[in-house]
Amino acid sequence: MSQKDHLAIRDVASLTTLAHSYRQWHTLRVAIVHFDVFTRLAGGPRTWQQLMTETGASQRGARILLDALTAMELLEKDGDSYRNSPLAQRHLVRTSPDSQCNSWELYEFFNENFMHAAVAVRDGMVPPELRSRHPYKDEQIGRVRARAMYELGKALAQEFAEGYDLSFARRMVDLGGAPGAYSFAFCRANAQLEATVVDLPSPVEVTREMAQNHGLADRVHTVVGDIFAQPPIDLGSGYDLALISNVLHLEGPEADADLIKRARASLVPGGRLVIHDRVLDDTRTRPADLAVQAMQSLIINERGNSYTLGEFAGWLAQAGLSIERTITFPNRVTTWIVSRAGQQ
Ligand SMILES: C[S@@+](CC[C@H](N)C(=O)[O-])C[C@H]1O[C@@H](n2cnc3c(N)ncnc32)[C@H](O)[C@@H]1O
Repeated sequence: MSQKDHLAIRDVASLTTLAHSYRQWHTLRVAIVHFDVFTRLAGGPRTWQQLMTETGASQRGARILLDALTAMELLEKDGDSYRNSPLAQRHLVRTSPDSQCNSWELYEFFNENFMHAAVAVRDGMVPPELRSRHPYKDEQIGRVRARAMYELGKALAQEFAEGYDLSFARRMVDLGGAPGAYSFAFCRANAQLEATVVDLPSPVEVTREMAQNHGLADRVHTVVGDIFAQPPIDLGSGYDLALISNVLHLEGPEADADLIKRARASLVPGGRLVIHDRVLDDTRTRPADLAVQAMQSLIINERGNSYTLGEFAGWLAQAGLSIERTITFPNRVTTWIVSRAGQQ
């Protein structure tokens, strides 16, 4: 099934499925984020009575929730006992290496903001006074986002580090790079490389913690800074590689063009600027899920959007750069846009 087909609503059955999907979504959200059901079952089956006591759920609530999760085949039921399905055990247990639990905490935050979707469409953004928390500067969201970005990014980072020759690089800067998934993978692929992750305060705390855990604290450095601030912060200089991964869709064209110019200025002659993001086609409607994802940019960010390759190329051109190559790995939805700086 193509991405287009996946989101298309062509019959009343699809329309009804979509209309009811909030039930499943919220069932899973509360199970993961509020009652930690799957993590509690990580060690083996437990009865609904045990889970009710441990989670503080009511009898009625616990039984309905556990049966609904069983109906979704995320739990298996035997009498009064429930156990995780293999998929839940792998992806919905907090301590699993393939856990997606932090991502669900982030989705919960996005969902709070999606309640203001009508205002965002009417006014072009959600006004700050309607938000309970700032999407980037709130400390808790910053930490949750950083952990979610690791869950979502580590395999992509690894793939690029294995598929693209990074041996030219000794120093890199990773702009909006928390928690460092890309810097860690690149440093592991190239023993000569040192990275500097620039991000906001609470994501940088997570980066420092993870750099320690990965044994890379001496090679992955951190700078706390607002990369879009005006007047601009100093991004440093003398880098062989500047990475801007999944950051440009957060901002508008002017700020993105300016960040690219400053990233380019931080490079040595011959250094490379790599943008990693999703790319819309010129109709702005494909890939379909990216066109729909632009709704998230509308709601979460004040000026963000999904962008076309022409838009990325235009901002690179303003910085005196042209695209050397683009890379999309099989079965992946993101694009790596590589450009190389000439003599300054
Ligand atoms: C979508 S995440 C991408 C993280 C990482 N680069 C990746 O590809 O997984 C966006 C990152 O940009 C950071 N960010 C957002 N606004 C920023 C700002 N004004 N200054 C510095 N970092 C910012 C966020 O904290 C977050 O780490």
